[in-house]
Amino acid sequence: MLRGKKILLGVCGSIAAYKSALLIRLLVKSGADVKVVMTSAAHDFISPLTLSTLSKNPTFSSFTNGENGEWNNHVDLGLWADLILIAPLSANTLAKLSNGICDNLLSVIYLSARCPVLLAPAMDLDMYKHPATVSNLEKVISFGNIILDAEHGELASGLIGQGRMAEPEHIIEFIESFITEKGPLRGKKVLVTAGPTFEAIDPVRFIGNHSSGKMGYALAEEAANLGASVVLVSGPSNQRIDHPMVKVEQVTSAWEMLEVCNTHYSKTDISIFAAAVADYRPEVMAEQKIKKSSETMVVELVKNPDIAAELGKIKTASQFNVGFALETENERQNATEKLKKKNFDMIVLNSLQDEGAGFSGDRNKVSIIDNNNIVMDFELKDKVEVAKDILQAILTRYEN
Ligand code: PMT
Repeated sequence: MLRGKKILLGVCGSIAAYKSALLIRLLVKSGADVKVVMTSAAHDFISPLTLSTLSKNPTFSSFTNGENGEWNNHVDLGLWADLILIAPLSANTLAKLSNGICDNLLSVIYLSARCPVLLAPAMDLDMYKHPATVSNLEKVISFGNIILDAEHGELASGLIGQGRMAEPEHIIEFIESFITEKGPLRGKKVLVTAGPTFEAIDPVRFIGNHSSGKMGYALAEEAANLGASVVLVSGPSNQRIDHPMVKVEQVTSAWEMLEVCNTHYSKTDISIFAAAVADYRPEVMAEQKIKKSSETMVVELVKNPDIAAELGKIKTASQFNVGFALETENERQNATEKLKKKNFDMIVLNSLQDEGAGFSGDRNKVSIIDNNNIVMDFELKDKVEVAKDILQAILTRYEN
């Protein structure tokens, strides 16, 4: 759900700092890349080693890294983050944020950042109700920061009231829906085809290919992370996806894939055809397992429907279709021909000539060509990152 999202977690001096450990675990489990910045007071409550281990990133506390004299660049850290979450937020740090005081790394990052900021205060109930705190909270809200209200319950002082840091589970729920709702594809329907198709020869044999589904699944997840409601039509694949905005439709053959795509296509805004569909299927499927009787065997093949081309024929002016081209030679020319022939708005070219690109592996190297013949070349990178590049390219060209 938060796959690929960069979250900078600020931890302040509060007994609730122990909850930061759980918060990091949940963020990482949700797919986020987490970096932690602690105030010096936070060190009295939780160890940086715990936070670094859980986040799988170094934890930052001061402007320089004492051991090797490196500068912990607050501007870079602020710009790195897609979202800053300060949890627990102490009354002291809140006062600094509301007044622009920057005497530690966390408060300087806060001033340098351009991303949304979520604040989860934690303090004793009387501190939370104090007019100074109330006024500081109002001030940071006026800056556009979002407050995750402190919860009611037993406090470290033994008193009972409002002041407990919001539970990590509640914070995660909020972040997941916040990121989805803010997404540029909110309210849009996206159809993605993924994986291979298997065309049966007999009950135990089939014609297939090496597609793992990784590219298509990464695209479905990224589109959902951007707020879209996604239908993923997947051929046989070991990939799994667990995202509330993604509905998976499992199919086996090209015909089944076409039928399922047909039922969704008219309601779809953006379609991405990442599946490696078998171009041919056996003319007949033997009802029983074919016996090994002669030295050679001939299987008559007939052409499969071209799903992308069929849907391209009924594409309306408000729909946007993205194809893939898997090539081994004359890559650009072949991809451009497919773009025109299948009425794509954009085509993603991956070549088996590029080592590490294409089928099965975790990485891919693509060029994106649009219908104005503008070409964007990308480096070999993880398919999750490739999916982000493709969705960003779609966003710049897709008109609502
Ligand atoms: O699944 P992975 O292991 O991660 O690998 C990813 C991938 C290499 C499969 C993917 O990146 C990719 O290139 N997918 C398209 C492969 C392919 O079939 O390309 P093509 O050039 O043969 O087809 C052109 C386009 O028409 C594609 O969008 C394809 O989905 C579509 N098509 C093709 C044939 C057909 N019968 N129906 C189709 O919809």
